[in-house]
Amino acid sequence: AAFFSRKKKLLNKTFLVTAGPTFEKIDPVRFIGNYSSGKMGYAIAEELAGSGAKVILVSGPVNLEVANSNISLVSVESAEEMYLECQKYFSVTDGAVMCAAVADFTPLQPEITKTKRGKNNWNLELKPTADIALSLGEVKKKNQVLAGFALETNNELENASQKLHKKNLDFIVLNSLNDPGAGFQTDTNKITIIDKDNNHQNFELKSKKEVAVDIVNKIIDTLKN
Ligand code: CTP
Ligand code: CA
Repeated sequence: AAFFSRKKKLLNKTFLVTAGPTFEKIDPVRFIGNYSSGKMGYAIAEELAGSGAKVILVSGPVNLEVANSNISLVSVESAEEMYLECQKYFSVTDGAVMCAAVADFTPLQPEITKTKRGKNNWNLELKPTADIALSLGEVKKKNQVLAGFALETNNELENASQKLHKKNLDFIVLNSLNDPGAGFQTDTNKITIIDKDNNHQNFELKSKKEVAVDIVNKIIDTLKN
């Protein structure tokens, strides 16, 4: 009975989840990327789908598979592509979880042909990318939930709380790079959830699958209010 009721909680709901890194092309054979594995975002997508929701998973390049058939995978490479796909789908959803490690800067002008080895320095000029979470926060309707992540190395609570308000999020999941076992390539995570009413919830170090359950429970609680 408990199993069945867990399953039913998000029936007829749809969520957008972003996951993984983005790759920003420098030339046809090179990119700027980051260490995100996508594991946290994929775990959240699976947990949402396991709770009965439909999920649109907009993912950067990762080595992960989708298991639940209620997840539609939209594969992208760059921050710009991720932005466009999120713009396309957000309005039909009940909310979004912004888990991706989106590049903050992208090459101003990627080279058309492969850059050859040489004696001189290569000075790359980068321009800022669009902030996807911020753009969804601007159009969010009052029945939609918007959740973000913050990976901080210092001043964690204050930085995370600033991001929460600036991007009009309902809650933000803070993971500190200072916590052993938390962060990019690990199978575990240690999080604090801060919501827009400034409630703080500290969780133990646990597997990313278990962390996904805590985050989905917070989504369910937020939808109820
Ligand atoms: N995010 C996003 N689009 C971007 C950058 C970030 O949607 N171009 C989202 C992330 O997915 C995350 C949240 O915004 O949910 C916070 O990301 P983070 O990198 O911690 O913060 P930034 O706002 O990018 O600020 P900074 O990196 O300078 O700390
Ligand atoms: Ca960033």
